[in-house]
Amino acid sequence: MVKMEQAEKTDLLARMKALAHAQHAELVNIRRHLHENPELGFEEVATAQYIADYLAGLGLEVTRQVAKTGVVALIRGVQPGKTVAIRADMDALPIQELNEVPYKSKHPGKMHACGHDAHVAAAIGAARILWELRDQINGNVKFIFQPAEEAPGGAEPMIAAGVLENPTVDAIIGGHVWGGLESGIIEVMSGPTMASSDIIRLKIIGKGGHAAQPHTTIDPIVIASEIVGALQKLVSRQTDPFESVVISICSFHAGDVFNVIPHSAYLEGAVRTLNNELRQELPQKIEKIIRGITEPYGATYELDYYLGYPVTVNDPGVTETVRKAAVSVLGADKVRVAARASMGGEDYAYFLNKVPGTYIRIGTRNPEKGICQEMHHPRFDIDEAVLELTPVVYAQAAFDLLAE
Ligand code: NI
Repeated sequence: MVKMEQAEKTDLLARMKALAHAQHAELVNIRRHLHENPELGFEEVATAQYIADYLAGLGLEVTRQVAKTGVVALIRGVQPGKTVAIRADMDALPIQELNEVPYKSKHPGKMHACGHDAHVAAAIGAARILWELRDQINGNVKFIFQPAEEAPGGAEPMIAAGVLENPTVDAIIGGHVWGGLESGIIEVMSGPTMASSDIIRLKIIGKGGHAAQPHTTIDPIVIASEIVGALQKLVSRQTDPFESVVISICSFHAGDVFNVIPHSAYLEGAVRTLNNELRQELPQKIEKIIRGITEPYGATYELDYYLGYPVTVNDPGVTETVRKAAVSVLGADKVRVAARASMGGEDYAYFLNKVPGTYIRIGTRNPEKGICQEMHHPRFDIDEAVLELTPVVYAQAAFDLLAE
């Protein structure tokens, strides 16, 4: 492998920045086109076609309909070498947009309220830059546009479809726009950065009867209430205070009328943690509590414990390379190590379980432009200024990872 001299590196970065500046307006248009035309998970047909046509038009090797609506695009460098992947998710949310902007969603009840439109635009931006500079690439850069990040998850089926093979991906990078972080700032983090995201669905089966004769019934509301309280003690009394566990029972349905004790109660909730080992223990611990409370009352239960996305765990080595790349592009004052992980879930975790990689946070908050909302808010928007240098961060990181 040819080692790049410092002067060459500086020259390369200057070229990338010039390309980024020249393409910024185009990327804003791409992002706005996607924003106006949001599609939900596994329905990203037009989005996928737009991305695939665009990149095929540039000259990239494009594979369509991977795991239904996914797109993979490849740049082969002039010299053989490693393969770095850049991942972007494409799906929107079932939210009615409340922003009054020229690029407001044209699809009622659907909105890019999580910034995946910007993720696609930034990845396309990196593809444009790297395509232009492909004679300087030793190895390959693969772009993975995945469906259905919000639900039910497109990363796993894309991996099953072989996106990490042919050529085999050695490292992967990706990022999420971050509504709470100032525009222009990038945050990196080593280790767990986003939580696992599991679901409990629980039915307590008691025995209904007259409200005035509780002793002839098995009251599922009292039992379910005890369970809700006890699960919080599992968090506060049975979990190491230095670990993060969240159990939120968000749905509680029982009964129809004031004077009838119902037959059953139904609970649904979210279980999140930043520790994959702890996550594996939680289903048994939770079930033990449910059994311990229902049994003495003579009630029974049906528990459906759904394992969703795993913990998103960033590789320390790749994270450090990407941090340095971001510093070279943005300056040291614009790149921070995140103070703590997020309890949000992210199906990028599946890629990180297979390949070392990292997931960065791209600050997009800009109160001067009225952009202050967090993700999933009906007024969420991003500061499009970040579409200039984010692609350069990806491209620089790709060059640096390929050179390792
Ligand atoms: Ni998202």
